[in-house]
Amino acid sequence: MRPVIIAGNWKLNGTIPETEVLIKGLLDGDSNNEAATVVVCPPYPSLSYAHQMVTGTHIALGAQDMSQHDKGAYTGEVSAEMLLTVGVRYVILGHSERRQHHAETDQLVNAKAKAALAAGLIPIICVGETLTEREAERTEEVVGGQLDGALAGLMTDQLRLSVLAYEPVWAIGTGKTATPEMAQAVHRFLRNRLAQNDPAAAEVVPILYGGSVKPGNAHELLSQPDIDGALVGGASLKAEDFVGIINAV
Ligand code: 13P
Repeated sequence: MRPVIIAGNWKLNGTIPETEVLIKGLLDGDSNNEAATVVVCPPYPSLSYAHQMVTGTHIALGAQDMSQHDKGAYTGEVSAEMLLTVGVRYVILGHSERRQHHAETDQLVNAKAKAALAAGLIPIICVGETLTEREAERTEEVVGGQLDGALAGLMTDQLRLSVLAYEPVWAIGTGKTATPEMAQAVHRFLRNRLAQNDPAAAEVVPILYGGSVKPGNAHELLSQPDIDGALVGGASLKAEDFVGIINAV
């Protein structure tokens, strides 16, 4: 059985006061669904405060990125160890916004995944095609290449601890969701690709869907056999909506 994970990627949203309100809303709301692992990923400055709020609750903490380096002259960077010291357990890697705005490559995502796993963090590795790539019928080539690149050289035990997220770029923040059938087809493709290297990993690695997930479409998406959870952007910023998605599990 794969765990179902509902993760909220807050992106560049969430000062400490806003973090307090949002997490309080999740704790006060009906967000403790035993069928789901709930993860919130606030910006770095709010992590420590968020950790204090979620300690002893059902909510786990994630970060939105990290450096591939342990320490040194890398201005602006944050290491896996630093994240661990503020209670972080998950880290989103290779989000399309990092690839697009910060020129992150598959090679870099791979280095970050290795550093995260070596430190004991669970990477949530994102892949996804642009609209142009989908229209050119290159979806499988693109996400397959991103998957191979991100996972290259991982040991089997590391691979089996990882989480994947399929986030079609054209569905992020646009209100356009992949239909459950479209998403399922790509999730199945990714699982088969995993199975080529390690059949056991294909059985245990959760593959989350991301891209305009809302309370109204979550149930249908999450009912697909290869969709094991959601990586939620906009709707994770409203406690009521995020709770609605958690309870769609
Ligand atoms: P939206 O849910 O706002 O489309 O964002 C998805 C996403 O990028 C999560 O990482």
